[in-house]
Amino acid sequence: MTPDRPRRLLILVASPRRNGNSAVLAEAALRGAQDAGLDASLHFADDLMQTFLRDCRDCRDEHGRCRIDDGYADFFFEHFLDADGFALASPVYWYGMSSQAKAFFDRMFCYVARSYPDSQRVRERIQGKRVALLTASEEMYPTIALSLVNQMQEYARYTHSQFVGAVHGQGDRRGSVAEDRHGAMAAAEALGRQFFERPHADYHVDSVR
Ligand SMILES: Cc1cc2nc3c(=O)[nH]c(=O)nc-3n(C[C@H](O)[C@H](O)[C@H](O)COP(=O)(O)O)c2cc1C
Repeated sequence: MTPDRPRRLLILVASPRRNGNSAVLAEAALRGAQDAGLDASLHFADDLMQTFLRDCRDCRDEHGRCRIDDGYADFFFEHFLDADGFALASPVYWYGMSSQAKAFFDRMFCYVARSYPDSQRVRERIQGKRVALLTASEEMYPTIALSLVNQMQEYARYTHSQFVGAVHGQGDRRGSVAEDRHGAMAAAEALGRQFFERPHADYHVDSVR
């Protein structure tokens, strides 16, 4: 079936460095996605969030809405929930994802939790997206980004999303991932281009094959 609009891919850069390595990988994925005719856009976590998740019990207003007044809610409702695909670009910080990346997931809790009046609709719309990961780090042993990959896989499992790709690039100086010798740039561009075409299989015992 042909969709009635180009599929929407959101790419979120979760590094404070605007011209850093996560951003360079994200831009490569964006190029690939645009070449493939996708409705793709790139965003920076630092533009959306000014703070971490708070205690929802204290933070919610009398209508159950989150009181944190930054760009997160708009992004979440206007962009994220409508997207067909989501790619997170995060540096490896202390062998995990950046605080910005983690806060992006944590802040969803405000709207997914049952104490949010419209949480049922949010839970329905959060499901079924294709998701992917782009990571950059200084170290380059094969499992350097494993905890990020694992966390993304758990997010995908929990939200009935499909985890379709993970690209890691080596670099420390800002932008130096462009010189990665293992083909990270080409892999990021290919990921963007094939985002909705890549075969994906994650079976359950009762899956029809
Ligand atoms: C707070 C912090 C923690 C870091 N921790 C690691 C690490 O555990 N392993 C690693 O290989 N590189 C680590 N790095 C280096 C970054 O992963 C690397 O410079 C990466 O390319 C930065 O991506 P960016 O340019 O998108 O910010 C760390 C850098 C910072 C600032």
